[in-house]
Amino acid sequence: MAIVRSYGPVLFLCFASALAAAPKTVWDGVFTPAQADRGLAAYSAQCSRCHGEDLHGSGNVLIGAKFMQQWREDNLRSMYTILRDTMPRNAPRSLSDAMYLDIIAYLLKVNEFPTGTADLALPDTANILVVGKEGPAAVPDFALITVSGCLGPMKDDNGSITAATEPVRTRQPDKSKGDEFTIAMAKSGGTRTLALMGVQYNNEGVVPLHRAEVKGFLIRLPAGNKINVTSMQTSAEACTP
Ligand code: HEC
Repeated sequence: MAIVRSYGPVLFLCFASALAAAPKTVWDGVFTPAQADRGLAAYSAQCSRCHGEDLHGSGNVLIGAKFMQQWREDNLRSMYTILRDTMPRNAPRSLSDAMYLDIIAYLLKVNEFPTGTADLALPDTANILVVGKEGPAAVPDFALITVSGCLGPMKDDNGSITAATEPVRTRQPDKSKGDEFTIAMAKSGGTRTLALMGVQYNNEGVVPLHRAEVKGFLIRLPAGNKINVTSMQTSAEACTP
């Protein structure tokens, strides 16, 4: 029993070092040609009858400008989760993890991202960002985003978050749970300040002047960016805004 328990800290260390890994982008060669070929076979069998052999069917969402608009500044974990939970449209979650990952590799290949020497694996996906040729760009206006930083005082409907990370896209408007929140709180060194609105609806259990995760819709304004808050949560760590 003691031996089993001693795995706890070891696992935690592995997890902590995974956190420290530098983020990658889809330009870093994150899948292999063989994986994309397997993805083509899976795509032909499972997706092409709606999306077309040339990927231009069903609203053209899998290739070119629409593909980039939908996924840029988001990570591959998010793409995997959406694919798994919504596709094939008539039978969500019906493929294996490996097949969904192979299909993502295929979609990256047809969207002209470079191949690499290792297959795309599920644990890597959260750390790989989709960015355009020009590199990371501003998240589109009104996109659902998440930031980590220091929550300031709140008054009426309004608040602010300082020392905040660059907003990144999320598909999940609610508070993140477990490891995801730990990862959000491990992100430090941000330099952004964002105004918050809608805080009075979303402040259950929230402690001002603590490290916080804030999610919501990004609103770009000449005076500075604002978040229309969908969820907030704070950690035990106090901070000075
Ligand atoms: C029965 C038809 C059908 C099948 C099979 C199907 N799709 Fe779709 N898919 C759709 C439709 C319809 C849309 C919505 C298009 C739009 O928004 O204009 C869609 C949207 C998507 C999107 C955009 C995400 C979103 O939520 O809007 C992705 C990515 C996608 N499909 C991937 C796949 C993949 C990968 C497969 C195979 C595993 C697959 N689809 C199989 C019909 C299908």
